[in-house]
Amino acid sequence: MRSKPLYRLKAGFFASLCFVVPVLGIQLPFRVFGAEEPRVPRYLGSLSCASSSCHGGAGERRDQWIQWNGKDVHRRANSTLNLARSTQIAAAAGIADPANHARCVVCHAPNAAVPEAGRLAALDRTEGVSCEACHAPSETWIRTHTRTEKEGFTYANKLSAGLRDLQNAYVRANTCVACHQHVDRDLIQAGHPELIFELDGQSAAEPRHWKEPAGASGARAWWVGQAVALREIAWHQAQGAAGAADDRNPARMAALRWVLEVTEAAIFPGGTVIHSAGPEPAALQASADQRAREAAGLTWTPVMTAGLLHQLADSATTFRHPEIPVPVLARRAERLVLGLDRLLAASDPKLEAKVEQELKELFRLAQSLPDFNPAAFSAALERFARALGAS
Ligand code: HEC
Ligand code: HEC
Ligand code: HEC
Repeated sequence: MRSKPLYRLKAGFFASLCFVVPVLGIQLPFRVFGAEEPRVPRYLGSLSCASSSCHGGAGERRDQWIQWNGKDVHRRANSTLNLARSTQIAAAAGIADPANHARCVVCHAPNAAVPEAGRLAALDRTEGVSCEACHAPSETWIRTHTRTEKEGFTYANKLSAGLRDLQNAYVRANTCVACHQHVDRDLIQAGHPELIFELDGQSAAEPRHWKEPAGASGARAWWVGQAVALREIAWHQAQGAAGAADDRNPARMAALRWVLEVTEAAIFPGGTVIHSAGPEPAALQASADQRAREAAGLTWTPVMTAGLLHQLADSATTFRHPEIPVPVLARRAERLVLGLDRLLAASDPKLEAKVEQELKELFRLAQSLPDFNPAAFSAALERFARALGAS
């Protein structure tokens, strides 16, 4: 099975879209707590992980720091802020010094966003997005996380010490989406690439310094990621004025909702939680979150992957609905092709080979929003479904 995404939508193509506030802020856990509240764990920085007997050694299970340091784009996220392109984006948004501005470092150099009280050691901001941005600040778990099951210290024990459960698709999606979906509207207008969150492809595209746990499924990760993306976008809408003021947000939300509605019953037989959520963003937010948690806990089977694939493949008639505005259909197509890519990546390679040409054509047709042609896309999707052997 391949894992890396075969196709990508052109970066920045959907750059006409935008959002208002970054959401979950998992990289910003520092609040001022009252005396009775527990203090939030502090950060140590990646050098505490780098020794050769820990994660900076040779060999597959010991080389996470080396992988990240040498290959991972997160390692260089801070240097991006020194590029001419960043200076341009920042200038257009009225920001003088992007490398030191809170609005940029929050995602590109989260160490720089950690206040003094959150540091247990000197933090190097040039690390970019480092270990603790994903695995959680390590003060509480650093000493015990090296113990083994044999020593009576289980994975569950490590999690309760504060290590983040990134093996769980729901927890992982919450971690990545915080930096991978919402960029403020003015930054997008200033030229920042539009972000489209898709958990499975983005997990596969990051140079992998881990082994996925037994029973992990790319198809499940895809679905959970879409549900978390919907929850986040619905949250923005539920904020009212700030979220709703962006007239492009609803189309994006509608597309995510659609892709989940179309596929929900394939993994939750008879289930219509998202379908029956009603139009209120707050209700949709709650339903999407519920389904994301539930889907992350499903024991996954190949039948479920095939079910999702066939539901999407059989949706050609949607693209011939005269009442649905073309921009909404274009966004549905965008979500659909990314989904097909992930579901095929999780399927038998022979199946993928059978539909390769048809999938390429769908990506071509979904690539350009202003040029989106629903009738051509619908016809191509029918050809895809036939090649796949769907109904
Ligand atoms: C603290 C913010 C932050 C978190 C958390 C984060 N990323 Fe990123 N990620 C970034 C930034 C910033 C970039 C762009 C780096 C650059 O080019 O400067 C990026 C780039 C990437 C890229 C390469 C560009 C692309 O979209 O293909 C991948 C893949 C990626 N991240 C995957 C992930 C995954 C998977 C997770 C969760 C396990 C994650 N990221 C969590 C900030 C974050
Ligand atoms: C919400 C998180 C977030 C914020 C805030 C953010 N970025 Fe980014 N930025 C990203 C991610 C994620 C990418 C990678 C996008 C991709 O490759 O698909 C990125 C990509 C970029 C790129 C393009 C890199 C390339 O290789 O093409 C530049 C330049 C950039 N950001 C600069 C900035 C600047 C300057 C600011 C502040 C004004 C900023 N970013 C704020 C998350 C963020
Ligand atoms: C962009 C997010 C991200 C960053 C940054 C990151 N990791 Fe990870 N890491 C993950 C994910 C996702 C997994 C897979 C889930 C798991 O095994 O816990 C993982 C897994 C691991 C594992 C378990 C390996 C296995 O096969 O079981 C180790 C150890 C690890 N990371 C160490 C590190 C170290 C050390 C750094 C910094 C040098 C780092 N990680 C940086 C996301 C990240």
